[in-house]
Amino acid sequence: GIDPNFDQNRERVGEENDVPVWGPVEPPEKLGIHGTHVAVDYDICLADGACLENCPVDVFTWVDTPDHPVSEQKVEPTREDQCIDCMLCVDICPVDAIDVDAS
Ligand code: SF4
Ligand code: F3S
Repeated sequence: GIDPNFDQNRERVGEENDVPVWGPVEPPEKLGIHGTHVAVDYDICLADGACLENCPVDVFTWVDTPDHPVSEQKVEPTREDQCIDCMLCVDICPVDAIDVDAS
């Protein structure tokens, strides 16, 4: 699953869709972790969609990731500032691709 200490163990390399990106990023195979308060490991996400469908405040948006080896779509936490720390997405993701820093 996602490294919950990614903000210490990785470098912030830029932004996509106004969301911080933590490297390493080497497209199309390595896409890093997107988001900070609500963080999605793009190299683990397999586009299950349960997070996006069930988030009560619609934090997530689909983005296309053509030629990524795991899946060709990912969820961007474009509205992570709206997160209410319910932890539903963390619990529901089948591959533990999401970390929410509720502290
Ligand atoms: Fe949405 Fe809850 Fe996940 Fe925050 S913790 S992104 S509110 S499902
Ligand atoms: Fe991806 Fe997990 Fe959501 S696989 S689409 S982060 S439920």
